[in-house]
Amino acid sequence: MASRSPRFATPMSYTARRYDFHDKSADYARLVQDLAALLAGESDLVANAANTAALIFAALPEVNWAGFYFLRGGELVLGPFQGKPACVRIALGQGVCGAVAVQRRTLIVPDVQKFPGHIACDAASRAEIVVPLIDGATLLGVLDIDSPRAARFDEADARGLEALARALVARSAAGAHPP
Ligand code: SME
Repeated sequence: MASRSPRFATPMSYTARRYDFHDKSADYARLVQDLAALLAGESDLVANAANTAALIFAALPEVNWAGFYFLRGGELVLGPFQGKPACVRIALGQGVCGAVAVQRRTLIVPDVQKFPGHIACDAASRAEIVVPLIDGATLLGVLDIDSPRAARFDEADARGLEALARALVARSAAGAHPP
């Protein structure tokens, strides 16, 4: 029987794999490897972002939302995600996502109630981390992760999620980015 293309394979092993994050940098390194395998053979940014959000949501403990906002027409527009339905459009400079899009650097928010202008999509969210998605000099959007536990995210999460964002961008062709 002919072997199936990776894009049609069912990626069961990725969601079934366990991560305890007792050693965060080691687990993030494994997660980057798993993401690279999951995205192999596919360059569409939306498809790859969807599987990236699903992998992160399945692997990271204490997370209630994981997903993307893409830069479109001068504002952030909701992309693939896991979690409760979320606000669709965020202006640059607004909320944590809009701040990251302007500053182009990762923001760790230990307590969302203390972040001026935080946009509450899920009332359960207490902590948040947002990572910019950058391709060369171009901002593609942001990766946003929420947790119901205050102070859930630290610098190790920032470095690990930045590595995952780089892996996603590296495997998604420029021509496959949304307009
Ligand atoms: N809290 C974000 C909005 C997006 S939701 O968390 C999914 C913000 O302040 O930008």
